[in-house]
Amino acid sequence: MTPAPTTNFQLQPGTQAFLDGGPKQLLIGGEWVAAADGATFATLNPATGAALVDVALAGAADVDRAVTAARAAFEGQAWAGLTGAERGNLLWKVADLLEKYADELAELETLDNGKPLRAARHGDLPMAVRHFRYYAGWAGKLEGTTIPVSHPNQFVYTLREPMGVVGLIIPWNFPLLMAAWKLAPALACGNTALLKPAEETPLTALRLGEIMLEAGIPAGVVNILTGPGLPTGAAISAHPGIDKVAFTGSTDVGRKIMAAAAQSNLKRVSLELGGKSPNVIFADADLDKAIKGALWAVFSTSGQECVAGTRLFVERPAYDAVVEGLAAQAQRIRVGPGFAPKVHIGPMVSDKQLQTVLGYIESGRTAGATIVAGGERIGGDLAEGYFMQPTIFTHSDDSLKLVQEEIFGPVAAVTAFDDWDELVQRANSTRYGLAAGAWTRDLSKAHRFARAVKAGTVWINTYGLFDAAAPFGGYKESGFGREMGAEALDLYTQTKTVWIGL
Ligand code: NAI
Ligand code: MG
Repeated sequence: MTPAPTTNFQLQPGTQAFLDGGPKQLLIGGEWVAAADGATFATLNPATGAALVDVALAGAADVDRAVTAARAAFEGQAWAGLTGAERGNLLWKVADLLEKYADELAELETLDNGKPLRAARHGDLPMAVRHFRYYAGWAGKLEGTTIPVSHPNQFVYTLREPMGVVGLIIPWNFPLLMAAWKLAPALACGNTALLKPAEETPLTALRLGEIMLEAGIPAGVVNILTGPGLPTGAAISAHPGIDKVAFTGSTDVGRKIMAAAAQSNLKRVSLELGGKSPNVIFADADLDKAIKGALWAVFSTSGQECVAGTRLFVERPAYDAVVEGLAAQAQRIRVGPGFAPKVHIGPMVSDKQLQTVLGYIESGRTAGATIVAGGERIGGDLAEGYFMQPTIFTHSDDSLKLVQEEIFGPVAAVTAFDDWDELVQRANSTRYGLAAGAWTRDLSKAHRFARAVKAGTVWINTYGLFDAAAPFGGYKESGFGREMGAEALDLYTQTKTVWIGL
């Protein structure tokens, strides 16, 4: 079922003014500036394919200018001279302004990314606000320790100090929220930052830059560099003046960032990468809830989520009923433009992403997997945008490309399993280890699964929940480092050990 595009949605005056305000510039040292070579690119509305606005394309020279500004801000009294509590107050102000402008920010997210307005306004926005508040609270609580040592008359303690200038490179699926995941702890710990949003979705990061200035974050503390991986992202990961890069995106680019860090200044790296998460329905589960949960786990954000529960394992006795339920309910998911009322999911973010998804579907068809729902691009009124039907394959071959590789689209691969050892072995049989889910009424089975599965997050009888307080990150090739919670503070601080001879 596909609602028609709504062309007559009335944007907030602030959103319209932002779009009408001419080409978007880079934020460097507290000033909005064009790229040194004047380069720009257009960001598109994925629901229509139409260009929204031109945005500056930062090159190596712009990255270099931003590093100089961020370094000066890191050393300068306006930032380094603040107490943690004062930094916390500024972050709290950022959160207040995000709330004040939440309607506009949500509209920008829907325009640029395509996600339903309701998801942006009631999902991404409040979570971004919560991140700034959570880390505002930590800013004044970064304690060291005192350490008993085996030398007499020595007093040893540790200080937790910021890394320095950090580069934050983020993807397009949760643009504002990913910026918050990284900026809030980075700033709480006293770093200064270069933020590079994805080229598909630069707009909310730019608006966030304005909000940072309005909140009174000192010039140069947050610099925003828009542009693609090449040249902008690569210039950040190779820059010798950047102390740490935090990245979320594909495993392939994660490797490149690590290599660039190794070859430049051994900058610290944290990586939140791809996933191919197993989601398990045991025969004893509440099957109605499990089916709904499994659909949401894979189709939420049109499948463009690193944690998407794309490999669904169903215990044999429940298999036929679950497949039937999934196929019937998948057809009831309303796909449409993010501004249309009551849509569940929006378009793919780009034509490139749509083509990737169609390629995987073709590979599944060719290899003999069975399509039980969807499988096609959506045409008709939605033909201009990048809309995909929620698609469900059944299969019995874990080596299929469709089962092994991250698709990042609304494509589920469902299979039956018979026993525990088989399940554990198959659930762990990809190079990824980001997340996993299981549905069961058996408490000890739930806990045993949580221990057996190699994944950074496990959801039992729920899926896809996040919180600023709960650490998140990958096992295996899904990356390393934990964002959110107290553990994220480790990503943005380094320990100094001080010895005092008494
Ligand atoms: P990507 O990994 O290329 O892009 C993510 C970010 O990295 C963007 O800001 C991009 O400009 C930047 N980037 C790209 N090349 C770079 C380089 N050489 N050096 C530094 N930064 C660079 O992801 P893309 O191409 O947008 O999507 C491709 C696939 O990646 C998706 O189909 C999906 O499988 C995966 N992906 C995973 C995400 C996750 O949350 N784990 C998010 C986005 C994509
Ligand atoms: Mg790319």
